[in-house]
Amino acid sequence: MGSFNNSHCCIFFFFSFGLLLLLASFANAKVHYHDFVIQATPVKRLCNTHSTITVNGMYPGPTLEVNDGDTLVVKVTNKAIYNATIHWHGIRQIRTAWADGPEMVTQCPIRPGMSYTYRFTIQGQVGTLWWHAHSSWLRATVYGALIIHPKEGSSYPFPKPTRETAILLGEWWNANPMDVVRQATLTGATPNISDAYTINGQPGDLYSCSSQDTVVVPIDSGETNLLRVINSALNQQLFFAIANHQFTVVGADASYIKPFTTSVIVLGPGQTTDVLIQGNQPPSRYYMAARAYASAQNAPFDNTTTTAILEYKSATCPKKCLSVTPVMPTLPAFNDTNTVTGFTTKFRSPQKVEVPTEIDESLFFTVGLGLNKCPPNFKSNQCQGPNGTRFTASMNNASFVLPANFSLLQAHHQRIPGVFTTDFPANPPLKFDFTGNVSRSIWQPVSGTKVYKLKYGSRVQIVLQGTRIFTAENHPIHLHGYDFYIIAEGFGNFNPSTDTSKFNLVDPPLRNTVGLPVGGWAVIRFVADNPGVWLMHCHLDVHITWGLAVALLVENGVGELQALEAPPPDLPPC
Ligand code: C2O
Repeated sequence: MGSFNNSHCCIFFFFSFGLLLLLASFANAKVHYHDFVIQATPVKRLCNTHSTITVNGMYPGPTLEVNDGDTLVVKVTNKAIYNATIHWHGIRQIRTAWADGPEMVTQCPIRPGMSYTYRFTIQGQVGTLWWHAHSSWLRATVYGALIIHPKEGSSYPFPKPTRETAILLGEWWNANPMDVVRQATLTGATPNISDAYTINGQPGDLYSCSSQDTVVVPIDSGETNLLRVINSALNQQLFFAIANHQFTVVGADASYIKPFTTSVIVLGPGQTTDVLIQGNQPPSRYYMAARAYASAQNAPFDNTTTTAILEYKSATCPKKCLSVTPVMPTLPAFNDTNTVTGFTTKFRSPQKVEVPTEIDESLFFTVGLGLNKCPPNFKSNQCQGPNGTRFTASMNNASFVLPANFSLLQAHHQRIPGVFTTDFPANPPLKFDFTGNVSRSIWQPVSGTKVYKLKYGSRVQIVLQGTRIFTAENHPIHLHGYDFYIIAEGFGNFNPSTDTSKFNLVDPPLRNTVGLPVGGWAVIRFVADNPGVWLMHCHLDVHITWGLAVALLVENGVGELQALEAPPPDLPPC
């Protein structure tokens, strides 16, 4: 007869208690199944009906709502005539790069008639992200919100808002966007500018045939509404404001930030900003509006303004007030870079964060446009860029070309030679006055499929340096598979001997897309702890079309949980 053993009892108790906790956390995390059908759908905008590529016939597409820790399983069936993929913009995709979505980078396209199921888990991200097609210019109309609520049982670090509204800013062409980009690729010139901006798919009252369908966002007196603002426009940074209402900015790119108030926000394509608004104005109707922040000099842009209406539901609102023309907010001028700088430099993490201080990989990437001389076998109508050239773009003088026969990730995983080279340079091949008067002789980059290799766990710093090649402009630079800290930004050429003193290593914001100041630089840091092949590119689709991208290849670590998962069985073949 054994005596009662106290310590065994305790071990047993703690073991079962731990198991219970584990089970409880699994029970909380949910798996969400969705079906996405990519299809042509008639959409009426600006007085005409257009055959438009949508998801499930919706424009914008369906909103996905999950909690942090949940798993998404989205079966995407392609019933359109174009190749397609879906990217989950900002989702870290830890060990699941196969589900990231950029065409020919992490997968081959879903061919017309085929399908692919994306499976991934949200790990430690809360706030607003979005999903969009990542194949040619399909994302012009194929996009939607991806909202991540805190884990069940945890809450926002601010008073719970009464309402939450996703605000998707978009860009609309009366032509098929796929034809617009095809035409530009043919001529070498800039693509046609859009015909309208949209809020949740609608241009609003300032466009013809649109006011019937202007989006109405409700609010009540005394309420707080959390607006999840997403810039899903294809090629344009946008200012956004609401008449007589201040914003309290509380988050961006699915990370919280230290709250601050502002009357206008600016977002580059790819960026999201969560703001609180208070129903503290006389019950009435107020316009919310967005229009371009256009930083490139003398470049054509869509200078229209999209509107929606913030409408008080309060009973005290007399019937009549609903017919009153809403007040218009003041938006900054198109070239108001000061407002942009004032806004972006206010971003801080809510508390002290762990920014890598020792750096293993110190990289310097130039970012800019270029002009290629007309190739000898091209006709003059194929060289309609300035002075008979063709537009191009590059990072470190390398203009990125997608591979044709295998995705980069597949080539890496299966060790298929000849698909990419690993000679993307850590520094620009030539040092010049990047933001000064750049000599015409260095306007032509070299095309190729180059990646930059990173060891698992390496601590990376990238100085992104804009150039004035052809023209300087603000570039929204997005990195797949990671969030990064933006530790500094400035104008002119980055100067390591003076600018390092400006580094914020205490509470810099964590984001997935940084707006590179026009004719300036930004410095980002992250730890390369997610194996895979990750595209880094300008989120102006016109620039990615011209090659403004690079892929970072992050090798597997030694541990089992430091390696890329096996590819899913239904990964589309090439
Ligand atoms: Cu939002 Cu490479 O994309």
